[in-house]
Amino acid sequence: MKQLFHFFAPCPRGLENVLAQELTELKAENVQPTDGGVGFSGGMRTMMRANLHSRIASRILWKLAEKPYRSEEDIYRLARDIEWPDLFAVENTIKVNVTAVKSPLRSPEFAGLKTKDGICDRFRLKTGSRPSVDTREPDMRIHLFLTDRMAAMYLDTSGEALFKRGYRLDAGEAPLRENLAAGILALTGWQPGQSLYDPMCGSGTFLIEAALKARGIAPGMRRSFAFQQFRMHNAAEWDKLRTDARAQENKECFAIHGSDVSSTVLKHAEANLEAAGVIDTVLLKQLNVLDAKPVAESGIWLCNPPYGVRLDEKEKLAAFYPQWGDVLKQRFAGWRAYFFTGDLDLAKKIGLKASKRTVLFNGALECRLFEYVMQAGSMREREKPVTDNSKA
Ligand SMILES: C[S@@+](CC[C@H](N)C(=O)[O-])C[C@H]1O[C@@H](n2cnc3c(N)ncnc32)[C@H](O)[C@@H]1O
Repeated sequence: MKQLFHFFAPCPRGLENVLAQELTELKAENVQPTDGGVGFSGGMRTMMRANLHSRIASRILWKLAEKPYRSEEDIYRLARDIEWPDLFAVENTIKVNVTAVKSPLRSPEFAGLKTKDGICDRFRLKTGSRPSVDTREPDMRIHLFLTDRMAAMYLDTSGEALFKRGYRLDAGEAPLRENLAAGILALTGWQPGQSLYDPMCGSGTFLIEAALKARGIAPGMRRSFAFQQFRMHNAAEWDKLRTDARAQENKECFAIHGSDVSSTVLKHAEANLEAAGVIDTVLLKQLNVLDAKPVAESGIWLCNPPYGVRLDEKEKLAAFYPQWGDVLKQRFAGWRAYFFTGDLDLAKKIGLKASKRTVLFNGALECRLFEYVMQAGSMREREKPVTDNSKA
């Protein structure tokens, strides 16, 4: 009988449902979205598949133990009772991360130290020696999650976070994390073959994520994962998953379009597209968004406009919002436009009625994805009913 394990895939908040859908398509079982991630179960093959193919997850964590706790001593025992030497070699370096929400313990850091002690003592008992700690580039990351009552211990199967796809060479101004960009793209409902245009593309994160999807390129194709060092790692099965993924890649060149006012930033975008192997799939142009023209009769406009931190910067930028609205009204009839921004007031100033507002988090920053349906003909978009899941 197939052995089922429990996993948790954290993701940027607001993307839980699209991640749940993605994991279901990747054959995960018992998929359960919760705040900040998605729980699921499956075999080791499902775990490897999720690491290789998930565009939206930040990591894939394997749940090893979960118990009620009251003290640091309980955390020590939870760690010590796991058969770590069966999971990885004593030569592997380790790092413990702690996340605590409403924990009664005074110091989460101390709970992290007790976890490390538990792991080391288990290794000593079995092998006579203990693994070393490496806080910068550990082979194995162990995550301890504490709530008010429960402590859960996870082994990170990914290693480096999954948004590190291995293609980013140059960053422009405030690049988006790759998995956040991929999740936003999923929220727009964009499908390969449909026109996509980012008129403020920066280092090209939306464009690259769209191009990888259009070309059927698995996001984890260019990187390695922590699970490759697990004792039970099945290298033949992993090779087969990668070979199957390669066979799904296509060479079709869908037109995905991007522009930016800055030539420097466009050079970064070009280098990143080249590194990701999708330079043929994307057309770049230096252009002010105010001169943007539609590349097809209909399509998806998706952008992450500049966001000022200081008040004077914010006010200066906000003066442009009505002009972006005018560009859409005058030239982009038939398109659906999305603005991903940390400026929650954008909707008030752009001069168009949002048909949807989705609450998302970019790290700790609360953001919105505003949707505008630009109907062909007159100003009918003003009459559309509004779906609003935000507090704004
Ligand atoms: C927040 S960044 C976009 C980051 C991008 N999503 C990424 O992941 O790299 C905003 C971009 O808007 C561009 N921009 C600012 N004003 C513009 C304008 N008037 N027309 C076109 N692009 C503009 C900036 O050069 C910058 O690259």
